[in-house]
Amino acid sequence: MSYVLIIGAKSDIAKELARVYAKNGYDLYLAGRDINSLDGLANDIKIRTNQDVQLCEFDITNIESHQAFYDNLNIKPKGTIVVSGYMADQKECETNWQKSFNTMNVNYIGAVSILNIIANDYEQNKDGFIVGISSVAGDRGRKTNYIYGSSKAAFSAYLGGLRNRLNSSGVSVLTVKPGFVATKMTQDLDLPEKLTAQPNDVAEDIFNAQQKKRNILYTKAIWQLIMLIIKHIPEVIFKKLSI
Ligand SMILES: NC(=O)c1ccc[n+]([C@@H]2O[C@H](COP(=O)([O-])OP(=O)(O)OC[C@H]3O[C@@H](n4cnc5c(N)ncnc54)[C@H](OP(=O)(O)O)[C@@H]3O)[C@@H](O)[C@H]2O)c1
Repeated sequence: MSYVLIIGAKSDIAKELARVYAKNGYDLYLAGRDINSLDGLANDIKIRTNQDVQLCEFDITNIESHQAFYDNLNIKPKGTIVVSGYMADQKECETNWQKSFNTMNVNYIGAVSILNIIANDYEQNKDGFIVGISSVAGDRGRKTNYIYGSSKAAFSAYLGGLRNRLNSSGVSVLTVKPGFVATKMTQDLDLPEKLTAQPNDVAEDIFNAQQKKRNILYTKAIWQLIMLIIKHIPEVIFKKLSI
């Protein structure tokens, strides 16, 4: 009986991840704020898969609670997936410090806090996997979303370092870099259909990449090529662009 801990479980991508992992024989800890609202999903997964599903109240910005939260999990999870994320309008972030701070707090500081605790446990046991959902927005700072993008860049760098550290302990770390995904987060944006993934496809991609112990996943795959091109535009040109 192996549990997977999904942090930010009310996210549209996380709900699909819960279904995919349960379908493949994992029990679930679904962690998030006001988590009892996932009762219906939890019961549905239990009935369909016969796996155990436990709902755990968790706020990734409540750093002081993280150690006790992990200590209180009866059976330690074999894997942990950090899905939680926060994206506010870039223009609002430029004038509203609280929005900028929450972006960093949710996407980076809180994620580092809980993963530091879990990574130490996995390293000691020489077992486990960690998945972090970062973003292509972290690959290069752009004027349209650099507060969010910089928090994701920091998270990607953290996951890279963690992967390097835990490699010798047999613990895999997967960095996920989605492009556009049709979720609550992007519902007000006009996204190009061909470049936009559905949450269930993203979840399948993540499961397959994690099982293969891959290091970095771009989903949809085309985003790897797009970001390769974007990263190679010389700064003297890039600073004049509006993309
Ligand atoms: N959608 C995209 O195009 C896209 C692209 C690249 C990367 N991503 C990343 O993918 C991940 C999943 O996002 P999504 O697209 O599925 O959006 P979503 O449905 O809006 O999910 C974001 C989740 O993060 C949770 N969250 C926010 N603050 C939290 C906190 N303090 N403690 C615990 N949970 C918190 C939210 O919980 P509440 O429900 O309680 O607010 C929400 O369920 C995020 O990391 C996002 O940055 C998304």
